[in-house]
Amino acid sequence: MSSVRKILITSALPYANGPIHLGHLVEYIQTDIWSRFQKQRGHNCIYVCADDAHGTPIMLRAQSEGITPEALIARISQEHQQDFAGFNIAFDQYHSTHSEENRFYASYIYNQLKANNHISRKTIKQAFDPEKQMFLPDRFIKGTCPKCGALDQYGDNCEVCGATYSPTELKDPKSVVSGATPIEKDSEHLFFELGHFEPMLKEWTQGGHLQTQIANKLSEWFESGLQKWDISRDAPYFGFEIPGEDQKFFYVWLDAPIGYLASFKAYCDKNNINFDDYWAKDSDAELYHFIGKDIVYFHALFFPAMLAGAGFRTPSAIFAHGFLTVDGAKMSKSRGTFIMASTYLKHLNPEYLRYYFATKLNSRIDDLDLNLDDFVQRVNSDLIGKVVNIASRCAGFVTKRFEGQLNQAWSSEAQNLFDSFSAKSEAIAQLYENREYSQAMRDIMALADKANEYIADTAPWVLAKQEGKEAELHESVSVGLNLFRLLMIYLAPVLPETSAKAREFFNETEWSWDSAKAPLRAHTIAPYQALLTRLDMTQVEKMLEDSKQTLQATATKPAPVAEPAAAPAQSAFDPIAPEISIEDFAKIDFRIAKILNAEAVPEANKLLKLTLDIGLGERQVFAGIKSAYEPEDLIGKLTVMVANLAPRKMRFGLSEGMVLAAGPGGKDLFILNPDEGAQPGMRVK
Ligand code: MSP
Ligand code: ZN
Repeated sequence: MSSVRKILITSALPYANGPIHLGHLVEYIQTDIWSRFQKQRGHNCIYVCADDAHGTPIMLRAQSEGITPEALIARISQEHQQDFAGFNIAFDQYHSTHSEENRFYASYIYNQLKANNHISRKTIKQAFDPEKQMFLPDRFIKGTCPKCGALDQYGDNCEVCGATYSPTELKDPKSVVSGATPIEKDSEHLFFELGHFEPMLKEWTQGGHLQTQIANKLSEWFESGLQKWDISRDAPYFGFEIPGEDQKFFYVWLDAPIGYLASFKAYCDKNNINFDDYWAKDSDAELYHFIGKDIVYFHALFFPAMLAGAGFRTPSAIFAHGFLTVDGAKMSKSRGTFIMASTYLKHLNPEYLRYYFATKLNSRIDDLDLNLDDFVQRVNSDLIGKVVNIASRCAGFVTKRFEGQLNQAWSSEAQNLFDSFSAKSEAIAQLYENREYSQAMRDIMALADKANEYIADTAPWVLAKQEGKEAELHESVSVGLNLFRLLMIYLAPVLPETSAKAREFFNETEWSWDSAKAPLRAHTIAPYQALLTRLDMTQVEKMLEDSKQTLQATATKPAPVAEPAAAPAQSAFDPIAPEISIEDFAKIDFRIAKILNAEAVPEANKLLKLTLDIGLGERQVFAGIKSAYEPEDLIGKLTVMVANLAPRKMRFGLSEGMVLAAGPGGKDLFILNPDEGAQPGMRVK
């Protein structure tokens, strides 16, 4: 094997204001599989994480519970760690961003940035709650959407029409905290001058540290220019005070990624490791951050810039993953598919979910679906039917007929079969290494199929009844068990608990990746005990029921409000909007429209004024597609419009519908262009 690698990996730090749910677990399971795999290969891999403990939502939640933020984050940290342990996530260090190590590194990095002139000041106007005497983050203001008139929308974007705006544009705004009408108030804020790092970031983001999907997205962000980043918050705020300032605190997202350094520092202190070996500019260690696609902006821009600006090394790579849906839809509280880790653990074996996620995970950032029927089926057919079944069919014979001893001499046929399994070791390792878990699982299951064929062909249960077939029987079950052993070695990163039980069954103390090289001969095994049991749909249904009830019970508590991930408006990584029913969908009247005229709106830099013929008359629509089309190119084209949208008065006139366009934005925004046979006014179905 190649030389030992020095690897430090992290998962994103979960907010300390809510429970771990199955969506989070996509990430922690993905990272844990990778960490266990690297360790099994003999590499020096350290996996650290922490709770993300600062920010307004945590402060307010503690207040509403009548406890200190410190007490709240201590409790949630316990809960999180219990949930993670329940899913066999093996952190080497689990820390908190509210720690002395983090205070030290946050202040240190800030001071370095300041000394190098990367921090500026500016007075900004912000919404202020006059009753509660605090500045309000956008998410803590609700009101009527200025675009579509929907009630009860957040201060930053409308969940009904998708418009983004600033809280000052909301109609009838109210503070979520006190119900008071916010006023505007000036305050001086500190900014990190991200733009100073443009050359460095351009090079870094295109330098092979990011998945292609992400790197492409980032080059668009560069086009729209890098904005300076507001890193300060006024009191009252739960966080670290900014050195040299009066009553100003670091914004939670400043010290959150620094929490990776802090957690690792705590690990170093306990284990006598030199921090600089991993974080100094000239470090030869590998550094990887596993994150969800919603927080790419922070990890691929702010964080590397901060590190570089303060004289640290930058990450070797950022590994982003997609979002989890359950049965094809966003996790839903009413259907019980918003499943908390602790609820799952009351009903089901964590290894099932680890395996199922592994069958779905790859190196891309596509969303993944937990389809509950498929989940039950996969677990039963693969883990029980294909893998564990081998052991349960063979083990009894070894124990009863051969005093627990595997045989010594193999036929060349048996040896060849074993060798073909063993030869797969490097290919499977490469798949794990590249985070192509789903392909790894398929390859391992293909081996399991072969093992089952061997057992079916040699039919030990037939041999057992025949006279004088002792040697054949002994070989069949010994080879069968040896094949099973390799499968369990290959599956160990995914199924640590089951694999450890299997290892004990083989009376072995350790399985490295290389343990798959040689078979066990004339080796005594322990009596077999069931490793996994079949999963029944009724267990899943019970879990969903429990999940609904747990959520109802917690619904009376103040809703935990998540700090918004301040991704840019045009992010292709936006989570799916709240779901609509088929009835909602049927209300939308899509019509084919012919573009009779198109002209630029001089006062608006994104809008075109379109005159549309929908067969039943003309409509005027303002569409935000100026960046993509010259007006004259649109004239005469067909598009699809929503014909029954309530008309909206805009500064430049009435907009009487919407046209459909798709694309990442900028120049790539495409009007649907139905083919020739379409006629204006036709209903689109
Ligand atoms: N506290 C920030 C991260 C700071 S890292 C310096 C945060 N916390 S979170 O609790 O909201 O999310 C933690 C991780 O879980 C993120 O990487 C996020 O993308 C991931 N997921 C949260 N919900 C998810 C799904 N439904 N599906 C997949 N991953 C999800 O963001
Ligand atoms: Zn709206």
